[in-house]
Amino acid sequence: MPIKVLMVCLGNICRSPLAEGILQSKVNPALVKVDSAGTSGYHHGELPDSRSIATGLSHNIDIRQQRSRKFSIRDFDTFDKIFVMDKSNYNNVIALARNDQDKNKVMLILNQSHPNKNLEVPDPYYDDNGFEAVYQMLDQACNQIAKTLPK
Ligand code: 4NP
Repeated sequence: MPIKVLMVCLGNICRSPLAEGILQSKVNPALVKVDSAGTSGYHHGELPDSRSIATGLSHNIDIRQQRSRKFSIRDFDTFDKIFVMDKSNYNNVIALARNDQDKNKVMLILNQSHPNKNLEVPDPYYDDNGFEAVYQMLDQACNQIAKTLPK
């Protein structure tokens, strides 16, 4: 059974699609499955934001096959690890947790690269220049996550 990792943000069009694509590029796809979701359903069925697509492509990460979907309580059963981008995402996901096993799966993604700092990946939706910085933060964090996953 592969390990399953879920990346979560608000809209599932800017940050978590990039996180999904970046981590997928660093792991053995037979051993690790990566997906992403949003705590809102605002953009259900949509492609990632064009700025996330362009930023990914500039680093040879193609996220154009992804479609936005809303986080579901069933995701606690499907996924082993759930990485959220900011504290608002954290609170929204934790609010749906049914027990400690669910809660223990949920982590701020930047705590992987910056342990115990509780740093947030800023929402770049209203900041055209924020996407490359988001990419770099996620790339650093995913390097650490990939080290913990089967090779
Ligand atoms: P994301 O960015 O959570 O990184 O996908 C956002 C995308 C859309 C909205 C907010 C954040 N929105 O309010 O529509």
